[in-house]
Amino acid sequence: MAARSEIDSQNLPAHVAVIMDGNGRWAKQKGGLRIFGHQNAITAVRDTVEAAAEVGVQYLTLYAFSTENWARPKHEVMALMQLLVHTIRQETPTLLKNSIRLESIGDISSLPESCQRELAEAKELTKAGSRMTLILALSYSGRWDLTQATQRVAREVAAGTLLPEQVSEQTIARYLSTAGVPDPELLIRTSGEQRISNFLLWQLAYTELYITDLLWPDFRREHFYDAIQAYQRRERRFGKTSEQLTVS
Ligand code: IPE
Ligand code: IPE
Ligand code: MG
Repeated sequence: MAARSEIDSQNLPAHVAVIMDGNGRWAKQKGGLRIFGHQNAITAVRDTVEAAAEVGVQYLTLYAFSTENWARPKHEVMALMQLLVHTIRQETPTLLKNSIRLESIGDISSLPESCQRELAEAKELTKAGSRMTLILALSYSGRWDLTQATQRVAREVAAGTLLPEQVSEQTIARYLSTAGVPDPELLIRTSGEQRISNFLLWQLAYTELYITDLLWPDFRREHFYDAIQAYQRRERRFGKTSEQLTVS
């Protein structure tokens, strides 16, 4: 496992996104119910947030609940929502102490009132945090994001405040829920699944993917450092040739 001292502070991803997967399988391995896995995911979240802030990552986006996750058994969805409220309440003082700003992306209005309230309060309390922004993706999916962005662009066009030919990649990026946030340079997915699961579809266009077989409740800061180190060994070519990159 990597140590923090082995990380090159000159080549850090500004934005890391994480698909926190494998809670259910973790619980099953332990002979517990799925919710037991979700409860044990909190330590992994805490460790990852702390490690990211300490290393110097500026934005950390955690995929906590997808649009598709609403289709899970009702009791699991309810338990996840309760856990969300509880965790935000419990962790806000630590975020404040570490100067971490909390943000969210997703269809927040679809969350239970109590979640919306807790989230709004925590966002307000931490809004001055300047060390790192922690973005929770809640009731989020990449297609939802592109759909809401398209609707807003269409409204501008219909109102005559934007011409169709003025719609550029920058326009679309401005209407996505991640407006103002750089695209993630690194995506970490736990539990070995090799898919995006409708996460940040537009924003992940050139993101480096790092998939580990670890189940999310077992993920710790050292694993985060491993992912950063793996990222630092990658050659990001953006369509160019390797030779072009080495010529100054
Ligand atoms: C990730 O773990 C948490 C959420 C999607 C909310 P899962 O609950 O998907 O766990 P597995 O993938 O079934 O093991
Ligand atoms: C992705 O995990 C969503 C979150 C981590 C919140 P899922 O467990 O829902 O993804 P699939 O269904 O295996 O693709
Ligand atoms: Mg899963």
